[in-house]
Amino acid sequence: MEFAGRDIISIRDFSREEIDHILKIASAMEPLAHKGSEMLKGKILATLFFEPSTRTRLSFEAAMHKLGGSTIGFAGAEIASVRKGENLADTVRTVENYADVIAIRHPLEGAARLAAEFAKVPIINGGSGAEEHPTQALLDLYTILKEKATIDGLKIALMGDLRYGRTVHSLAYALSNYNVELYLVSPESLKMRREVLEEIKGKIPVIEETNIARVIPNLDVLYVTRIQQERFPDPAEYMKVKGSYKITLELLKNAREDMIILHPLPRVDEITPEVDNTPHARYFQQVWNGIVVRMALLALILGAVK
Ligand code: NCD
Repeated sequence: MEFAGRDIISIRDFSREEIDHILKIASAMEPLAHKGSEMLKGKILATLFFEPSTRTRLSFEAAMHKLGGSTIGFAGAEIASVRKGENLADTVRTVENYADVIAIRHPLEGAARLAAEFAKVPIINGGSGAEEHPTQALLDLYTILKEKATIDGLKIALMGDLRYGRTVHSLAYALSNYNVELYLVSPESLKMRREVLEEIKGKIPVIEETNIARVIPNLDVLYVTRIQQERFPDPAEYMKVKGSYKITLELLKNAREDMIILHPLPRVDEITPEVDNTPHARYFQQVWNGIVVRMALLALILGAVK
C-alpha cells in the first residue's frame, strides 16, 4: 500500500484494504485535530475551487493548518485567470510551482482527472461535476464506522438526488466494497446513474425504491441528499421534483431507535429542523469527521505517515 504522491480522483481507485487504512489513520488523527501538530510544517496545499463550497474547502484548509502546513488558493472562477480564458491544464501547471498538493473542485466531469494528467504534484478531487466526490465518501464511511463500530452487516439507504448528486455516486462505489444491503431511494426521475448501478449490483444487494416510508423500518443508516438544482438542464424538470421528499418527525416514528441520519450538507428542505434535536441526527458530527479524514489524506499523500 503506497499513498505518498498519489492522486485522489475516484473512490474506485482505492481497494477496500486501502480505504480501511485511510479510516484507521483518520481515527489516529482525532487527538491531533484537538491539539495540533507540526507534521506538515513547510508544506503548502492549494485549493482551486471553481464551484461554491463551504465544508470541503474550509475543512481541507483547516486540516492542513492543524498539521502545521499552510494553504493558498481561490474560491470562485470569476476571480482567477480562467476569467481571462486560461485553461485548466495551464492553471494546474502554474499552481504546482507554488504548492505540494492541489485540491480542486470543478463543474465539469473529468476535470480532476485531466488536472492530474498535467500536474506533477498530487491532485485531490473535491468534486467533479455530478460525477464523484471521493473525499466526502471517505468521511461518510468514517462517520458510519465511528457511529456503528462496523460497516459490514448494515442496511443503508442513499436517498434523494441519486442522479446528479456526486456524493452518492462515490459513496455507492465505496460501500460496494463492504458487506452491506443498499437501498436507493429517489423520485423516479432522479434514480441512480445507470453506470453506477451496473457496477455495484454485481457486488452487493441493491434495492431501488421511490417511497422512503416503505423502507425506513429496516435501516441502520439513512443518508439524505438535496436535489442538485444547479445541475438540471431544464428548470421545468426541477420544478416537478422540488420538495418531493422530506424527513420529518412523523416519518421517523417508524425508524429503528438507533438509526442514524447523515447528510453531506448543505441542506435545503429535505430534513425538517426539528429532526436536528433527535438522537438520529449525525450530520453535524459528520462535519467534524471531515477534518480528521482530510488530515489523514494530506498526511498520507505527502508521505508524513505510512
Ligand atoms: C456536496 C457537494 O458539493 O457535492 N457538498 C459537500 O461537499 N459536502 C453536496 C451538495 O452540494 O449537495
